[in-house]
Amino acid sequence: MARLLITGGAGFIGSHTCLVLLEAGHELVVLDNYANSSPEALRRVAELAGPGAANHLHVIEGDIRQPGDLERAFTAGRAITASAQSANAAGIDAVIHFAGLKAVGESVAEPLRYWDVNVTGSRQLLAAMAANGCRTLVFSSSATLYGYPDTVPIPESAPVCPINPYGHSKAAVERMLADVAASEPGWRIASLRYFNPVGAHPSGRIGEDPNGIPNNLFPFISQVAVGRREQVQVFGGDWPTADGSGVRDYIHVMDLAEGHLAALEVLLAGEDQQLTLNLGSGQGHSVLEVIRAFEAACGQRIPYVITSRRSGDAASTVADPGHAKSLLSWQTSRTLQEMCRDGWAWQSANPDGYR
Ligand code: NAD
Ligand code: WQD
Repeated sequence: MARLLITGGAGFIGSHTCLVLLEAGHELVVLDNYANSSPEALRRVAELAGPGAANHLHVIEGDIRQPGDLERAFTAGRAITASAQSANAAGIDAVIHFAGLKAVGESVAEPLRYWDVNVTGSRQLLAAMAANGCRTLVFSSSATLYGYPDTVPIPESAPVCPINPYGHSKAAVERMLADVAASEPGWRIASLRYFNPVGAHPSGRIGEDPNGIPNNLFPFISQVAVGRREQVQVFGGDWPTADGSGVRDYIHVMDLAEGHLAALEVLLAGEDQQLTLNLGSGQGHSVLEVIRAFEAACGQRIPYVITSRRSGDAASTVADPGHAKSLLSWQTSRTLQEMCRDGWAWQSANPDGYR
């Protein structure tokens, strides 16, 4: 059992990962300011984890940019130490850092907010970790770092060339992590570059609940299917891909959650190390393929129209997941059909998300 601080644990990926971590027997302190989530997500995580889970899930409403809020989280970790009579007095054994802002378009309009939450927030977190003697971190990075990739499938060695402020903020945090790790011994860090996380827990109790009009394809399709939106706009039918629509590496959020558990176990078991790993399936699917798979899952037609390309999009981004497979002994197992089935289970049971 490890005592883990999960920043942003109420969010889409965080909530699914919290469930996997609770089921693996860990003690969690979640720090979230609910800027893009609801406390209801964590209530349902506890419900899914079963009786007794509530004793292992400690939730703190607070902001990663506020040293006082971070201190409350580490203090909560020390309280767990006391009750578990653990040998290590540091309180928190490792941090999984999901908290951040993630909308590309919004980052272009409000870059300072992205540098503040994503970069300053990570800086405050690292300072609090060092002050509390915790030097093990799993960080939510993104394939957005690769910008317009030259090579597909994309290896981790591909150039880091972000093309928007969101991507720059993730690249800056990866750089900051490398500098911190080089400054003193003891740091064990995994930067996980996610490709396109989608789907939901198969129960349909937790899932992705974006505010306003979804920026991403998958929640947009789900909301069309449930009647909240009229039709999907397919951004470009003239890409150099098999059917002319954009190709992405979609990863089931439960596979992604399990990838975090694998990364954490590798870090906790090892010496000082810095891992930078793609988390993806290695398989590309086009927008039109995703629409067809979702139609099969929900049993109805998804109206769509092919429009012009979205600025900043690449034709195809697919992970080379080989390093994650060999270093974490982890790989994705869930298909596009399962992503759509589980995404639909969530959206159809919760047409308005957690509201
Ligand atoms: P999300 O918005 O659902 O979750 C982020 C969580 O962080 C939310 O619960 C939000 O309330 C919280 N948060 C935001 N600012 C905070 C602050 N200042 N203090 C405390 N909590 C704060 O997003 P997600 O999809 O779960 O993504 C999680 C992480 O993964 C993010 O860092 C994101 O950049 C990264 N990521 C996401 C994707 C994706 O497509 N979803 C892909 C690659 C990387
Ligand atoms: C997927 C495909 C679109 C919406 C983004 C971020 C990335 C990461 C994951 C956080 C593309 C097409 C989309 C729509 C469409 N997030 N599309 N109609 O752009 O690959 O990645 O989310 O780190 O950083 O950039 O994901 O879901 O927006 O798009 O045709 O309404 O669907 O053109 O081909 P993207 P997406």
